[in-house]
Amino acid sequence: KYIQWISNYDYLYLKLSYFILYLKINKYLSFDFDRLTIYSLLNFFFINEIYFNISLGAKKMVVQRTLSIIKPDATRRNLTGAINQKLENAGLRIIAQKRIKLSKEQAGIFYLVHKERPFYDELCSFMASEPIVVQVLEGEDAISSNRKVMGATNPVEADDGTIRKEFALSIGENSVHGSDGETTAAFEISYFFSGLEMV
Ligand code: CMP
Repeated sequence: KYIQWISNYDYLYLKLSYFILYLKINKYLSFDFDRLTIYSLLNFFFINEIYFNISLGAKKMVVQRTLSIIKPDATRRNLTGAINQKLENAGLRIIAQKRIKLSKEQAGIFYLVHKERPFYDELCSFMASEPIVVQVLEGEDAISSNRKVMGATNPVEADDGTIRKEFALSIGENSVHGSDGETTAAFEISYFFSGLEMV
């Protein structure tokens, strides 16, 4: 919100204020400012400095971990390497990875949040149908970076260049899964990996 609040115009004005004050202090400007102008420049300068610092703080990236799954439709078509390349190109580091085959029960527990959805049974059967590759990704804002490079759940709606746009077959067979938040990521990572496996 702070970031939106501070427009480019404000930023330019701040820089201009700096510049004028710099010239004035170094006596490059011969004409005199009246006191009010100086106060208003200084006032703007200090207030903006505070807001800019807050906005820089808000913008600060955090290193996160997220769980990613390369789903059966992708492992079947030998797309693990191509998908990993996309993840790495997006600045994500694969700090743990293994190829496993889930039972339908294990898939069911993983996707328990979708239990009431009409596609739950189909989803669990699909995830248990063939091997998957589970992985932990690390990077700045890894959760949102991963979701960005994955693209929308439905490949028809996914942006160009995303994994799902290029590789997914349908909304169900959509090639990858990624945690959707910090709490989910913590649960999902712990479902497949111990701390010692993430390096
Ligand atoms: P994923 O990100 O793994 O999270 C839940 C999954 O449910 C989702 O990707 C889709 O693969 C699947 N899903 C969502 N909507 C549907 C749907 N309408 N039909 C079948 N599967 C779906």
